[in-house]
Amino acid sequence: MIAKPRDHAGDVQGRAVSPRASHFRGSLGRFATGVAIVTFDGATKRHGITVNSFTSVSMEPPLVLVSIARTAKAHDELAGRPFTVNILGAEQRQLAMHFAGHPGPEPLWVEGDTAPRLSNVLAYFTCKPWAAYDGGDHTLYIGEVADFNYRNGDALAFANGAFTTIPESQLGMEDLL
Ligand SMILES: Cc1cc2nc3c(=O)[nH]c(=O)nc-3n(C[C@H](O)[C@H](O)[C@H](O)COP(=O)(O)O)c2cc1C
Repeated sequence: MIAKPRDHAGDVQGRAVSPRASHFRGSLGRFATGVAIVTFDGATKRHGITVNSFTSVSMEPPLVLVSIARTAKAHDELAGRPFTVNILGAEQRQLAMHFAGHPGPEPLWVEGDTAPRLSNVLAYFTCKPWAAYDGGDHTLYIGEVADFNYRNGDALAFANGAFTTIPESQLGMEDLL
């Protein structure tokens, strides 16, 4: 789902939206999420787009989903291409903004076997294309996970239109189940 930090009067491109759309966005924003960047090589250039619409889908086969706006530059080129979902750590807000239309210093890339990924993220899932479904003004891209890993550290989160931090002490509960 598209979200814009601390401004419910416009969409991510700064365009005016209706009060109902703004209310819808604000209501959706009460669902706290992590923050990820989808990276992949297109036909002529490398793409990265910040998303919070990441979700796990299936364990067997291992599938994950991201929802990409049809208006995003990366939208058309992602179809049928391998990609990486890079999950951001708490200290990577600048990276999130870099791939949300506010470029900063060029990030460090890792050339993967399947798709490029970003260096030093909290976790990553490198995916082969599995399916794409119509999602209204978005497309739901599902990837089959080919490679994944994670490191220790606090997570970057997004709630109520703002970035926040989820401490590592609240992560990793799967070890206790
Ligand atoms: C925290 C956050 C979450 C976002 N989530 C999504 C998302 O799930 N899907 C999406 O298409 N855009 C999402 N966006 C917006 C895109 O990152 C942004 O529109 C991007 O700049 C589009 O790329 P483009 O300018 O190359 O078209 C999000 C932005 C932020 C800051």
